[in-house]
Amino acid sequence: MKITAVRGFRDILPEESAVWHRLDTQARASLAAYGFSEIILPILEKTQLFSRAIGETTDIVEKEMYTFPDRDESSLTLRPEGTASVIRAYIEHSLAHQEPVSKLFYIGPMFRRERPQKGRYRQFHQIGAEILGRDDPLIDAELLLMLQDLFTALRLEVAIEVNSLGDAVCRPLYRESLRAFGESRLAELCENCHARLHRNPLRLLDCKEPGCRQVTADAPVLTAFLCGPCRDHFAQVQAYLRQENVAFTLNPRLVRGLDYYCRTAFEVFAQGLGSQNSVCGGGRYDGLVAELGGPAVPGIGFAIGVERLVMLLQAAQEHNLLATPDLFIVPLGQAAESQAFSIAHRLRQGGYRVELESGNRGLKAQMRRADKLGARYVLILGETELAAGKGTVRDMQAKQDRPTAIDLALPAQVMIDAIRNLNSQPLAEKD
Ligand code: HAM
Repeated sequence: MKITAVRGFRDILPEESAVWHRLDTQARASLAAYGFSEIILPILEKTQLFSRAIGETTDIVEKEMYTFPDRDESSLTLRPEGTASVIRAYIEHSLAHQEPVSKLFYIGPMFRRERPQKGRYRQFHQIGAEILGRDDPLIDAELLLMLQDLFTALRLEVAIEVNSLGDAVCRPLYRESLRAFGESRLAELCENCHARLHRNPLRLLDCKEPGCRQVTADAPVLTAFLCGPCRDHFAQVQAYLRQENVAFTLNPRLVRGLDYYCRTAFEVFAQGLGSQNSVCGGGRYDGLVAELGGPAVPGIGFAIGVERLVMLLQAAQEHNLLATPDLFIVPLGQAAESQAFSIAHRLRQGGYRVELESGNRGLKAQMRRADKLGARYVLILGETELAAGKGTVRDMQAKQDRPTAIDLALPAQVMIDAIRNLNSQPLAEKD
């Protein structure tokens, strides 16, 4: 009989492992820029760690863990996630006494006995990061900003969704309101949700049954129940995200599959992955360290699903998207060329891929080249326009020209965002 790999466990062959390394290298660079150091943790832990940390009523603990007895009959579990292990190690080695703030990251396999499908495996890998010892909104925003930086550097387009899950003061009120709501619509809910209603009503929002989804569309939202401190915290997180142009949407129905979260929670989605489209999830867990027997230290973190990101990177490679410039600059004449040279340098330093032609070439020849390279946006700098501090942005997909003021002092990301956003603005009156 032919022996094959265990269902849901995959081999990573050389063609794919090369992409893994690219992701690994970029993630390590982004994490280092934000001051994280690596922690390498065991794959096997005592079962109790996960049931306490993740929550007895979660799908992971109820039905997805690989749990087995050791020789002395104590119960062991292959880790289904990394946060619990990081905190176990943090407490065990008294890291709180050494440093008031710990920023730790880990990379490695996790195990969940889920139904395998595209993008969902029983052994999968995560790149995770945890910050212990900070509860201010700035650090929440920093973590999300780092994620955006990483996805930008990988040239992947993602959508970040954010919510606040409240805290021990306000969430119980919401839980009760959701339970009352669920009970008023009991007949329309599935069997599982009947059980969830009593054990953990927040799980209702997680149910994938179409009937339940229809019901929960009318459910009360947590945002309306947030207490003053949670509301202020969340408002400041959002203000910082906006300040640095992090593209995010508020999703008041976002709940996470693990119980330890409070306040800021988020998920990152990508297109092209089918139903398993969440590439990263995370949030704040201020009570967890104390819950696991450590000091009252707040925490926040995330984990990226490596296999899903690798799928995206492979698809991008196939379509040659990785070689596609974010911006193609067309200078017309010598003065424009010199200006374009500076703009291109700054954007490239900011991690954007920019192509630049000689100002001696004509408009048509340069545009042909931009088209060939598949550039989405072209910035045309003619000498007369430049004198007026203006350029023209051509959206190659929409085949539209938009005049725009080019402020040479703009930071790279702000300039790129301005160029992309021209799209969503109505065309200015021709003057
Ligand atoms: P999670 O949302 O359960 O969070 O998992 C994070 C990511 O791991 C998901 O967004 C997904 O990309 C990937 N993932 C999860 N399950 C699978 C699977 N069966 N197959 C493939 N990929 C999968 C956590 O694990 C938390 N520990 C994140 C965290 C860290 N929160 C705070 N700190």
